[in-house]
Amino acid sequence: MHNDVIQNILVANTITQYFPISFHNKRKKRYFAKTFNSMAEMDYKAEIARLKQEKHAVVLAHYYQNDDIQDIADYLGDSLKLSQTALQTDAEIIVFCGVHFMAETAKILSPHKKVLLPVMNAGCRMADTITKADLQAYKAEHPDTKIITYVNTTAEIKALSDCICTSTNGLKIINYYLEQGEKILYTPDQNLGKYAMRLLGKEFEVWNGCCPIHHFAQASKVLKQKELHPNALVISHPECQLDILELSDFVGSTAELLSFVGKSDATEFIVCTEKGVLHPMKKQNPDKQFYLGCPSFVCHDMKLTSLEDVYNCLSNETNEIFVDESVRKNAVKALDKMLEITKL
Ligand code: 13P
Ligand code: SF4
Repeated sequence: MHNDVIQNILVANTITQYFPISFHNKRKKRYFAKTFNSMAEMDYKAEIARLKQEKHAVVLAHYYQNDDIQDIADYLGDSLKLSQTALQTDAEIIVFCGVHFMAETAKILSPHKKVLLPVMNAGCRMADTITKADLQAYKAEHPDTKIITYVNTTAEIKALSDCICTSTNGLKIINYYLEQGEKILYTPDQNLGKYAMRLLGKEFEVWNGCCPIHHFAQASKVLKQKELHPNALVISHPECQLDILELSDFVGSTAELLSFVGKSDATEFIVCTEKGVLHPMKKQNPDKQFYLGCPSFVCHDMKLTSLEDVYNCLSNETNEIFVDESVRKNAVKALDKMLEITKL
């Protein structure tokens, strides 16, 4: 073999792998600079739009996503709206800009569609607060108790549940079972569970989990904002603790908070949920002012996704979500039950 060729093989797998060893360093530098610039300048929005058409794909995004991701989404919504959209869309590929359980829910409802999650390790800290083994042990001890599970859980937990709920329909679903005289366990969010008990005036069992982003937000920080903006209404997500919910003027899911600020005569709002929701609030209500209730309302997992990640996963069709069929079959029953009760 010619010496030059051997040398070229030897430098493969290094940063210089595409260049012969004799390639002049200056030219090499210029080439890398050019490649890097053109990648940085790549119009991800236009490329994603082109790929969506070419591949018959849709992008779904949760309100907690980065602003630029929300802006390219075909459907933007809360957990409930996004699950319904995943079920209804006739697209062949769903790119789910959210966290793992959301993409998994889309796959459970639409098993024949390709569901992609741009960042595979975007997880949900609340979903981590309940394990399959713990729930199985509980069920073995309480065989007559109906398990109502918040959507922020893994497919395995959903599969062990009787019905799923979201922050939009949680109260309705819990009340539906209580009115039928059922004993229930609500998992895993203790805060939504305690809030439902307070509003319904009924007792039931609640798992000890929570979303740390909402759970550890401090009421003192919200009150400080109230001092700074005395005319502002406090609006909160039910994953916050009762001390914040009690001082709130309105409590609801992300979609309900958005709808509330649109309809309200008030012009200032202190928002107690993940800061991403401020983006659609400001966009839809340019004359109103929004302040984050506590600086800690940032879900880092939700913020992991970039336009480049969306482009890469759609372009290469990587990061596909799979759910074991036996798990899916049971999980879909619990999700169908939710969609059925929601329609009542
Ligand atoms: P929503 O159900 O209001 O969309 O909330 C999802 C979530 O992850 C809240 O932390
Ligand atoms: Fe999960 Fe909390 Fe992030 Fe929502 S905000 S995705 S519940 S960790």
